[in-house]
Amino acid sequence: MGDKKYSEKDLAINGGEKSIRKFEGKGKPKIGVEEFLELAETWGYGAKAREKIRRIIENEDVPSPHLARYYNPRRSKVKELEEYAQKLFGARYALAVNSGTSALNCAYVACGIGPGDEVIVPGYTFFATAAEVVAARAIPVIAEVDDSLTIDPRDVEKKITPRTKAIVPVHMVGNCCDMDAIMEIAKKHKLFVIEDNAQSCGGKYEGRFLGTIGDMGCFSLSTYKITGGGEGGMVLTNDEWLYTRAQSQHDTAACWRPDRYAKERRPGELFCGQNYRMSELEGSVILVQLKKTEAQAKRFNRNMRRVLSLVKKFEKVVPRRSNDILGDVGYSLIFFAKDRELAGKLADALEAEGVPAGARGTRSARDWHIYAYWEHILERKTPTPEGCPFTCPYYKGKLPDYSADMCPNTLDYVDRALYISIDQWWSAEDCKNVAKAINKVFSVYC
Ligand SMILES: Cc1ncc(COP(=O)(O)O)c(C=O)c1O
Repeated sequence: MGDKKYSEKDLAINGGEKSIRKFEGKGKPKIGVEEFLELAETWGYGAKAREKIRRIIENEDVPSPHLARYYNPRRSKVKELEEYAQKLFGARYALAVNSGTSALNCAYVACGIGPGDEVIVPGYTFFATAAEVVAARAIPVIAEVDDSLTIDPRDVEKKITPRTKAIVPVHMVGNCCDMDAIMEIAKKHKLFVIEDNAQSCGGKYEGRFLGTIGDMGCFSLSTYKITGGGEGGMVLTNDEWLYTRAQSQHDTAACWRPDRYAKERRPGELFCGQNYRMSELEGSVILVQLKKTEAQAKRFNRNMRRVLSLVKKFEKVVPRRSNDILGDVGYSLIFFAKDRELAGKLADALEAEGVPAGARGTRSARDWHIYAYWEHILERKTPTPEGCPFTCPYYKGKLPDYSADMCPNTLDYVDRALYISIDQWWSAEDCKNVAKAINKVFSVYC
């Protein structure tokens, strides 16, 4: 065919002429203008605004962004978020993950919770708190909440057995748990304390940020939370080993530690985990969100206390007890009515007055925040038929008597609760008017 005959010395690797100096086809960024404009649409910008943005950015020579946290040639937003969280909350380690559920999963696994263990969770919390105990193949033990709507330390103490490994206080609806009591019980029985702070980001207990008091603190930073993007979460701890294990669980294939490819420094460092990494898109949004947290919590708390201080005393309704009113995030002002019928009536009447309010009242709607609806646990449902962890041979105890009425106090409190949503942007006058409307309704029915 007349092809030139080459010898070894013709190879570029040996100093010969290089075959390809340049390609004619010009590459386009993998992620470019179209993806950016799709984001703008997600934000809600209309077609005209998007066209303007396109015209401005189209001719900029911007390379494809790296939307993953690791090996990012730019400064990673997720890393920046973690550093900001460490500083803001005063925690030695912060690990960003992709949800509050995965934060709990990482914390449980980091603490070594597994087959044979029991973990005490409250009967009023989002289901994920308990579900992740089962996902870690341990047994959830459901405890009562008290008149603060957070876990009742007296019931926790009653439910401790030789198999108890951890307590999970959940700071519900902005309000902290009785952390002094919980920490004392944990110390006495040598238990881990894993705070579920999905609902109270920015809240405090006796001046300390929630999520930094126990061994580990878990946050949800999703769209439904006062601080959050779309889906996100965070784990805080002061313990290097717990952080390392949480990190291994959140990104099993990468095995990030000080040295990614090193052999494990001690047993329990390398194991098969998950991929719960947060993306740079979420990281960017949540970083900005977290920067707003402190000021936001102050505004909510101020307005909640403004309203509360103006509500008169009534016979048939009392405010929820707070374990630290100054640390309550304050986005919800909660009262307990004498009975569930009254709670429902008050909520309807307040709504009619223009006050955002809600109550379960007599509505028996299914709600994943109330243990009585956790049939996955009550009926020991598992993804495979052998029933692990409920049938686990490593579990030497007697399974809790799961039933829909096992925590009567919890059911009583959630049925009688009346929730009034507080707006951080209300003026002093708005708060006065809200309190006036509450007094009007309470004075008629209570
Ligand atoms: C108390 C509590 N724990 C855990 C979670 C789970 O968080 P995520 O939805 O981000 O997985 C939530 C979310 O609503 C929650 O309220």
